[in-house]
Amino acid sequence: MAEQQNENADSKLIGLMAQFDDPETLVRACGQARQDGYKKMDAYSPFPVHGIDSELGIRRTRLPFFVLAIGLGAVFVGVGLQWYVNATSTEFSSLFPGYRFNISGKPYWSLPANIPVVFEIIVLSSAFAAFFGMWIFNKLPWFSNPLHRISRFKRATNDRFFLVISEKDSQFDQAAVEAKFNQWGSTAIEEVRQDLTDTQLPQFVKLAAVLVLILLMVPPVLIYRAMGMTNRAPRLHFMPDMDWQEKFKTQTISPNLANDKAGTDYLFSDFRAMREQVPGTIARGDLEVSSEYNHGIQSGSTKVTVRMNPGVVRTGLGQEQEGAAPPAAPSEPNWVTTFPKDVNIDAQTLARGKQRFEIYCSACHGFDGNGKGLVNERALALNAAGKAAWTTAKSLHDPEVKNNEKNPVGRIFDTITNGRNTMGPYRRQIPVEDRWAIVAYVKALQATGIQPETTTVGEAQNAAGKTKP
Ligand code: HEC
Repeated sequence: MAEQQNENADSKLIGLMAQFDDPETLVRACGQARQDGYKKMDAYSPFPVHGIDSELGIRRTRLPFFVLAIGLGAVFVGVGLQWYVNATSTEFSSLFPGYRFNISGKPYWSLPANIPVVFEIIVLSSAFAAFFGMWIFNKLPWFSNPLHRISRFKRATNDRFFLVISEKDSQFDQAAVEAKFNQWGSTAIEEVRQDLTDTQLPQFVKLAAVLVLILLMVPPVLIYRAMGMTNRAPRLHFMPDMDWQEKFKTQTISPNLANDKAGTDYLFSDFRAMREQVPGTIARGDLEVSSEYNHGIQSGSTKVTVRMNPGVVRTGLGQEQEGAAPPAAPSEPNWVTTFPKDVNIDAQTLARGKQRFEIYCSACHGFDGNGKGLVNERALALNAAGKAAWTTAKSLHDPEVKNNEKNPVGRIFDTITNGRNTMGPYRRQIPVEDRWAIVAYVKALQATGIQPETTTVGEAQNAAGKTKP
């Protein structure tokens, strides 16, 4: 007689469980149960037992066919959707018309173009079919199994083997099944009972589910509403990064951060946007100890800072008077006439100077310094068309420029550093050392004595290639 696990009137018999002590008896019992015509049964063992599937009469899983069916369905959905949105317009529905988009005159409908998307849809839906199909076929989720209420059954994960015949089986008869179990060598038999009181979901779970469902409808409603509305507010900026940060210009008054009238909320208490340099310190790389080396001017001499275009007199801010009497030529400082001692004039420096010259100067001055660089050629063409007012870069072979009295190395250095007249400064692009190397190369170029009038760009490039300083 089976032990009564639960006499509660609220429980219902759902099957009989037999315990076996070894896998062989279990497999034999399964085979006999199947031969006796039982179908709704299941076996439990601590480890996989070979051959038990066939003894229990378990069929192969139908999951692959389910996945195949869903995958084939995905082909039709994928192809159909793309065809609907790309190749149709209002034929099927005026409310949801497809949207024909002419892309470089390509056909609206062409199968090859749509295959990648179809492939992806197949992969995605098959994966979902396999995952959720497994749940469906296994009747998951199943929150509680009545077998777990039988203490004996705990050993199913350790050293005992169980066969359960369900009450749903058409042949089920409690007395007959118990007799069979004993006959097949079972060491214990128990009723499997389901507690009818715990099959219901708690009330609060149902309530929460309803609430969540209602809340889920809110975002679509809001989105739908926003689609039909205009809005003056800027778009939501989820990640501001540095888009809205305060911008301070160097050495200006800091904007009043909080916009408060009392003006107490400045970035710094002295109202500056940035800190002053600490007195007596020099930023790295800004140390200019040698007037000769850093400015090309003999020490003790003052630097010229005022530069003007001849013939243009500045009378005030931004006002220029054309044709006024030219101002007196600004007095020149005492340029160094020989290279400062920190500059080594050797093959290495000249090679460096040549390379830098060709990068920074040749565009305007040409490879051989005749002023016929590529920029110049283009600018002259624009000049001719009236689209530009270009001043040809001076030829470095111009007697004025070449003259060592008028244009000593210090002055050429200064021309590169601060620019001259219409030529811009290059102090930010070219470090001091390289500027001196360029000066050396310019001097070497001038010494070659190339006749600029007869040189074209191509010839100049050839000449520059051949010229060895
Ligand atoms: C964007 C074109 C351009 C580039 C690049 C350029 N220059 Fe000039 N350069 C000029 C122009 C234009 C003049 C004539 C300025 C004037 O007198 O109005 C000039 C004039 C000169 C002069 C003569 C200045 C004087 O004494 O009157 C020298 C020397 C010179 N450049 C050297 C260089 C060197 C070295 C480089 C490379 C670092 C260079 N330039 C890069 C356009 C350029």
